[in-house]
Amino acid sequence: MCGIVAYVGHKEAYPIIIKGLKRLEYRGYDSSGVSIGDEDNISLLKQKGKVSDLEDYAIDKNTKGSIGIGHTRWATHGIPNQINSHPHNSGDGKLSLIHNGIIENYDSLKQVLIEKGHIFKSDTDTEVLVHLIEEIKNHEQVGLFEAVRLALNEVVGAYAIVVMEKGVNNEFIAARKGSPLVIGIGDGEYFVASDASPFIEYTKNVVYLEEGEIVKIHKDKMLEIISLTNSTKTPYIQELELTLESIEREGFDSFMLKEIFEQPKSVIDTLRGRISPKTKKITLGGILDYEQKIMNANRIIIVACGTSWHAGLIGEYLFEDLARISVEVEYASEFRYRNPIINEKDVVLAISQSGETADSLAALELAKEKGATLLGICNVVGSSIPRLTHAGSYTHAGPEIGVASTKAFSTQIIVLTLMAVKMAHKKGSITMSKYHEIINELELIPEKIEKILKKNDEIEKIAAKFKDATNFLYLGRGYNFPVALEGALKLKEISYIHAEGYPAAEMKHGPIALIDDEMPIVVIATKKGNYDKVVSNIQEVKARGGRLIAIVTEGDKTVKELADDCIEIPSCLEQLTPLLTNIPLQLLSYHIALMRGCNVDMPRNLAKSVTVE
Ligand code: AGP
Ligand code: GLU
Repeated sequence: MCGIVAYVGHKEAYPIIIKGLKRLEYRGYDSSGVSIGDEDNISLLKQKGKVSDLEDYAIDKNTKGSIGIGHTRWATHGIPNQINSHPHNSGDGKLSLIHNGIIENYDSLKQVLIEKGHIFKSDTDTEVLVHLIEEIKNHEQVGLFEAVRLALNEVVGAYAIVVMEKGVNNEFIAARKGSPLVIGIGDGEYFVASDASPFIEYTKNVVYLEEGEIVKIHKDKMLEIISLTNSTKTPYIQELELTLESIEREGFDSFMLKEIFEQPKSVIDTLRGRISPKTKKITLGGILDYEQKIMNANRIIIVACGTSWHAGLIGEYLFEDLARISVEVEYASEFRYRNPIINEKDVVLAISQSGETADSLAALELAKEKGATLLGICNVVGSSIPRLTHAGSYTHAGPEIGVASTKAFSTQIIVLTLMAVKMAHKKGSITMSKYHEIINELELIPEKIEKILKKNDEIEKIAAKFKDATNFLYLGRGYNFPVALEGALKLKEISYIHAEGYPAAEMKHGPIALIDDEMPIVVIATKKGNYDKVVSNIQEVKARGGRLIAIVTEGDKTVKELADDCIEIPSCLEQLTPLLTNIPLQLLSYHIALMRGCNVDMPRNLAKSVTVE
């Protein structure tokens, strides 16, 4: 978690760092801080709360200097307060450090350092690291670069760090293992950040630091990169595709709303170049060399977390239904620790918007050890998962800033559909007419989403009726069961209302006990699939007085008579319905959260990129 921004060059560092931290606030926002170096001084400024609180606090403080490091925190060790926020300084005040991740062996390191006379101010694991670097630097009489390398060799855990030294105003040291770090190369200046958004207007030339690399960044020199074992590395400079417009709100009240409304475009971008206009042949360049392997796989094991896990469940339906390949969908965090049976004939597919989720990365590492083929579906280009996997496909949804995932989910489903249909076609498990039917329908999805988005005002009115409920139940069957789970997750993460998603038929095995005339139940009851069975489930809800919001296919009459409120979606092939049914649920959560005064882009306790286990 957390956002890191650092700058060294000829400009004033503070405004660049503050602006950058604001762009990274989606990664963590419980407290923030900066260290700015000038002449023989480092000004350390920290504050609890948002980056704007830090700005207010710093208004009458010295922020002058052309080198600095900044951090927006998502606490793992120690409550979010001013003392625990980063940067943390060494005991002698000569070093200042920011850190993203967890130092797992911090306690044993701390005990040793305390015995050596170190005094700690905070409860963080991070402060231990800066004291360790100080200890090694003084004891071994080495420079900061070497001291950082030696210290990191003693550390167990995940980190992205930047360390600066008092009086050294032209260089700092950065390193990473398990947490992302990217370096922007300017003219006589360098930027370091958790992702490229903080420096997008200054440079397009970047170096993604690799696992276990440590870099000395001097404003006037080439990057000097070494590994933990002290071998020299050559920086690989890449050009960024990210644009400034893509990370701005563009007139929307929130990133979440912007991203919901962007979905028709995101779907087009994800499909772009992947379906031949003439032959309708699907080409996924990233997995081309692995198609045979996927077709002959024992099974596909999908590993993911949260919303991406829900997309994985839809993937299971698609691969099994169309391509007849057996699929298991696992919570990445559970998979790793249950001694799973995996071998070389398995394909392990990680789905992740950020490409940095620690649990998903750990699951892939394990699968790699067992010799499985590793695939990824990710949104962030150049992130850790695409770099770890053998092959994969990007979702091309564009940057997703809102913490609650929306367009990433839709585009993950698009990629999963393309993969499954491609495999089905290759295996001959679907007829040519079915193949063309799916492709034709897929190409119509953007305009159908557009049509649903036009119902925003209607959905807002429904939200107003239900905004004060304390519990929600979401029901769906078949392809729409994962959508029910996702609808419930979206509501709880941004509105803090308790919500459960269930397969509609499971309701009678327990959750039915919750239903009374206060309880809203959102049912996905689109035509096709198990429509008649869902109608029976709706009857069961009505018989117990529940308040029903139904997502139905245009022209539906039966459910309309039963439900308190209905939201219509255009008719569509069953396999593709999640791409449509999900949209009104996103808007419903959005409006309810807004009416309850919640910050939809930065919900409490959450962070966009969960880089800790
Ligand atoms: C989505 O709304 C959540 N914020 C969260 O569940 C998220 O999907 C999960 O942390 C996985 O993230 P990833 O897709 O970046 O791996
Ligand atoms: N573990 C550190 C802390 O709790 C860093 C957390 C983060 O990545 O923001 O301060």
